Amino acid sequence: MARLPQAFIDQVLDRTDIVDVVDRRVKLKKAGKNYSACCPFHQEKTPSFSVNPDKQFYYCFGCGAGGNALGFIMEYERMDFREAIELLAHSAGIEMPPEEADNAPQVDNQKPLYESMERATKLYEGFLRQHKDRKSVVDYLKRRGLSGEIARDFRLGFAPEGWDNLMQTLADEESIEHALTVGLLIENDKGRKYDRFRDRVIFPIVNQRGKVIAMGGRVLGDGKPKYLNSPETPLFSKSHELYGLHHIRKFSKNLNRIVVVEGYMDVIALAQFGIHYAVATLGTSVGKPHLETLFRRVEQVVFCFDGDEAGRKAAFRGMEAALPMMEDGRQVKFLFLPEGEDPDTVVRNKGAQHLEHLFDTAAPLETFLFEQMGLGIDLATMDGKARLSKLVAPYLNQIPDGVFKTLLFKSLAERTDMDVDSLRRLREVQEKSESTAPDFHEESDGAPPHFEDDYDQFAEGFQDTGAHADSSALRSPDSGFNDNVLMRALGLIALHPPAALLVADEMLPDNSDRTANLLRDVVALVQETPDMSTAALLGYWTNTEEGEALSAAAAKEVIDTEQEINEHLVALLNKLSRDRRVALLRTRAHELKSVSYTELNNEQKRELVSLTTEIRQLSGRD
Ligand code: UTP
Ligand code: MN
Repeated sequence: MARLPQAFIDQVLDRTDIVDVVDRRVKLKKAGKNYSACCPFHQEKTPSFSVNPDKQFYYCFGCGAGGNALGFIMEYERMDFREAIELLAHSAGIEMPPEEADNAPQVDNQKPLYESMERATKLYEGFLRQHKDRKSVVDYLKRRGLSGEIARDFRLGFAPEGWDNLMQTLADEESIEHALTVGLLIENDKGRKYDRFRDRVIFPIVNQRGKVIAMGGRVLGDGKPKYLNSPETPLFSKSHELYGLHHIRKFSKNLNRIVVVEGYMDVIALAQFGIHYAVATLGTSVGKPHLETLFRRVEQVVFCFDGDEAGRKAAFRGMEAALPMMEDGRQVKFLFLPEGEDPDTVVRNKGAQHLEHLFDTAAPLETFLFEQMGLGIDLATMDGKARLSKLVAPYLNQIPDGVFKTLLFKSLAERTDMDVDSLRRLREVQEKSESTAPDFHEESDGAPPHFEDDYDQFAEGFQDTGAHADSSALRSPDSGFNDNVLMRALGLIALHPPAALLVADEMLPDNSDRTANLLRDVVALVQETPDMSTAALLGYWTNTEEGEALSAAAAKEVIDTEQEINEHLVALLNKLSRDRRVALLRTRAHELKSVSYTELNNEQKRELVSLTTEIRQLSGRD
C-alpha cells in the first residue's frame, strides 16, 4: 500500500488539537490543567479518562487506553490509520499528499521548514540587539511603551534595510529553497531572490506548540503596507492560527475567557499589562476554526474591535461563525472601542483594570445580534416586525438546541409579536453554512466530574492504586510492562522526548523483556528524530500495547518541567546501571567466596578485594 510521508503525518498532528478531537466526540470537562470525561472505551460512572492538552495525549486510568489524537480517532471511530489521518487532515484544512510508492524516498519536508523559520527568527532577534541601525527600532518600541522583557517574550526582532540580510546567511541552495517555501524570501519574475522583510519590526507568529511558523513585519514609519505578513505556506494557515495562543498556554492556566483583538500590538500590550488572555487573528476575520480552538479552552470569548465600520463587520462575521457553536454555557460578547482607540491605547492610558471592566460588561451576543439586525428597521410597524423576524430567525436556527436558543427565540417573539413555533420554521439561511459534517457530539451523562487533575494520587511508586480498575475484563493497564523503574523512565521520555538524547548506551538495560526493549526502541527513535513531540512519539506505537504503556507512563508522571525530567531520567538510569553493575560484581564475589579463602590464588584474592571495594563504592553512592 502506498504510504504517507512522515512529514505529512507530523504536520497533521502539529495542526491538530487533541482536546478538539476528543471533545467533539466525548464532552470534556476542564480538570486542573487537563480535561477529563467518562471513558468512551469502557463503562464507568466516574471519569477516569484524561486528556493532556500540553502534551497532546489521552489516557484512561480505568482501562489503560491511551495514545495521541490519531490513535483516539482510530479507536473511537474504528477507522484504520489512513482513514483516521484523512479525517484529521481534513479538519485541519490540510490536503492529502499524492500517493507515494512504498520505495519512494521519504523526504521530511516539514522539519527543515521549521528550522528555517527558527534561524531567521534568531537572526532578527539578534539584529534588534546589536545591528548598527537598531537604535531607531529600539526607540520606536520604547516610544510605544514596550518593555525589553515583553519584547523578548514575544521574540520581537528587527529586519534591517537591504535586500539580502537574511539571504546572505543562507549557505546552500537547500536553505534558500526552504526560506522561499516559508515565505522569508521572495523570488521575482527574473529569478532574483531577496528578503521579504526589510526595514521592519518583526513579530514572529508562533503556533500552539511554540514553533515559529510565520512572521508579521511592521514599518517603522507610515509606509505601506503597515504590516507585511508571511503568505500562506505549508507551515502557516491564516484561517487556523491565532497570534498569542502560545503565550496564553504558557502564562494562563485557569482561564475563563479569551479576548480576540485586532492587532499584534494589542496582544503584546495587554500581556505587558498582565492581561494574558488575548489573541489576534492574522489579517483575516474570525472564522470557525479559530472559534473552535478558542471554545476548547474557554467558555467565554470576547470580541474587542474598533467601533468603526470594519470592526463591526469583523464582529458580525465572528458572530456568524459562532452561532452554530453556541451550546449552552458558551458565551460570546462584543466590545467596541471608541473611534481612534484600540486595546493597546486603552490599556496604556486607562490601565488594565479599566479595560477588564469593559470586558466584564461587554454586550452579550443577543444584544449585538438584535442591534445589528434591527438597523434601519422600524419595529413600530408590522412590516418592520416581519422583516426582523425573517432576518433573525434563520440565524437563531443555527444555534444548537438548548436553553440559549429557546431564550433567543422567546426574545425575538416578544420583539415581533410572533409565536415561537412560527419563528422556528423560518429556516432559509441566506448562505448555507458550510459545515454540516456528521454530528459527532455525544452528550455526557451529566455526572459531575470527580476526577481530580494532577495525578497526585498516582504519584506513589507508579502502581495503579486500583481506585479505578473496576473490572478485570478490561484491557489490562500493564500488559506485560512491569518494571516500575523502567516505566518511569519511559514516562519521562514520553513527556519530553528530547530527554532521550541524554541517555548513553551504557545507561540502558541489557536484558530483553518487553519494557527494556521498548525503552531501547524509544531512545533509538528519539535519537534519530531529536525534536520529536510527545504526540509524535506516541504516534509510532499507535494502537499497540507499547503505545498504551507509554501513554500510561506519561499520564502517571508527576514531574513536568523539562529540566527536572532531564535530571530525573539521567539519575534514574544511572542508578539502574549502577545497580546492574553491583549485581554482576556481587555474583562474581559470591562465586569467589564460595571457595575457602586459602584455596584462592593470588590473582583471585586481588580480584575479590577489588570487587568488594567497587561494590562498596557503587552502593555508597546513593
Ligand atoms: P491596525 O491597522 O489596527 O494596526 O491593524 P494596529 O494593530 O493598531 O497596529 P499599530 O498599533 O498601528 O502598530 C490590525 C491588524 O490587522 C493586520 C495586522 O495583523 C494588524 O495587527 N494588518 C493591518 C495587516 O495584516 N496588514 C496591514 O497593512 C494592516
Ligand atoms: Mn494600534
